[in-house]
Amino acid sequence: MDGKPTFRNDRQAAVDEIQNANGRKWEIIMAYAWSKDLETGNLLIDTQHQQLIKAVNELLAACSTGQGRDVLNNTLNFLESYTAKHFGDEERLQIQHQYPDYTNHKVLHENFKKFVNELVNQIKTSGATTSLVSKVTFGVGDWLVNHIKKEDMKVAVYIKSKEN
Ligand SMILES: [Fe+2]
Repeated sequence: MDGKPTFRNDRQAAVDEIQNANGRKWEIIMAYAWSKDLETGNLLIDTQHQQLIKAVNELLAACSTGQGRDVLNNTLNFLESYTAKHFGDEERLQIQHQYPDYTNHKVLHENFKKFVNELVNQIKTSGATTSLVSKVTFGVGDWLVNHIKKEDMKVAVYIKSKEN
């Protein structure tokens, strides 16, 4: 490991373990990459997706210097408020274009908001543990990437097809 960041989407390849100076094991997880297959073509939505991924990546960067637990509370507060805003914007766009799978898509959003809310409750009750750090990085990061690729891209294709 030469300490340089690498950019990958797959979680398995992105995990490496090192022993830091205190003898504590930290997972060094590289960044989630932004790639073409995450682009919906809607500027607002893409910008918001990038902000969400950036928040996860900043937490990952903090982990790589052993500061993941220190920044976790801020990351969670951001994710809680920003996902609510972002999902609201996405849902408005779907309603506006009469997206036929809107109801199912909204359920996915609601479930994810519940998941983030549980993480917020966990930090309040148990503090910023390393296991919570990894739930936020992997749990949130993987969900976002998968959701964008599978669900948000379907919306993008639908909206484009209606515009033509
Ligand atoms: Fe979505």
